[in-house]
Amino acid sequence: MSSGNAPPLDRLVKALTSTISLKIVMAVTGIAGAGFVIFHMLGNLQMFLGREAYNTYAEFMQNLGELKWVARLGLLGILFGHVSTAVLLVQRNTAARPEGYYTQKRKRTSVAAVYMAQLGIVLLLFIIYHILHFTGGMIHTDLGYELVEMGPNGARRDLYTHVINSFSNPLIALTYVAANLALALHLAHGATSMFKTIGFGVGRWKVPVEAIGPAFGVIVGLGNISMPIAVLTGVIGAN
Ligand code: HEM
Repeated sequence: MSSGNAPPLDRLVKALTSTISLKIVMAVTGIAGAGFVIFHMLGNLQMFLGREAYNTYAEFMQNLGELKWVARLGLLGILFGHVSTAVLLVQRNTAARPEGYYTQKRKRTSVAAVYMAQLGIVLLLFIIYHILHFTGGMIHTDLGYELVEMGPNGARRDLYTHVINSFSNPLIALTYVAANLALALHLAHGATSMFKTIGFGVGRWKVPVEAIGPAFGVIVGLGNISMPIAVLTGVIGAN
């Protein structure tokens, strides 16, 4: 039976799970994830302004109440959509790969493009570790998760000291550096790929779109890596 004669529900499922639909889900969830990463990085970079600025920012985020839970659920949905779609696309690519693929001449491509799935797995593991560490306080429990200080509005979490204590441990700091290198590579390829999926990447857009991913990867990578390195080297300290 041709798909034109299939029942409407079957046709809908087929359309929603077509490779192009999945790629659009990857692009949309990727854009949303990239937006969070930028916002999160700008918030965290305030640690360069000192304890007061960073803890005030953290207090503002903590006090968002229900909005914080809406954002967390949204982030979880984005992550689930991105990862499950990636799994489906990788399965399809593997199934469609012709015999003798590896003997054929490889298309000229980047390291990031070849290892997108592996980089994604590293990032997923990092996110779990990171949330257990800073949000949950379930690991590295001796580094100050429970600390509070007096702010203008009363007692508040001293997240600044928790972050400084954490990144003063070279193993933790280097784990963050490594994870953010993986993030930089993932974004370098992902951001360009995203724009191509939504139709930019031809004609006069081709060159800027090829450049935007690597530029984004470098900005986010440098921004995030600067924090553990600044603590390790004593540029940011306990005071
Ligand atoms: C050096 C880089 C980073 C630093 C210093 C940092 C710092 C933090 C801190 C302190 C928190 C806890 C906030 C709180 O409990 O109020 C947090 C939460 C979080 N971070 Fe990061 N982060 C970094 C990189 C990243 C990256 C690269 C990602 C994702 C790819 C990420 C994703 C998250 C998520 C999802 C949460 C949980 C948010 C929530 O519970 O509301 N972080 N981060």
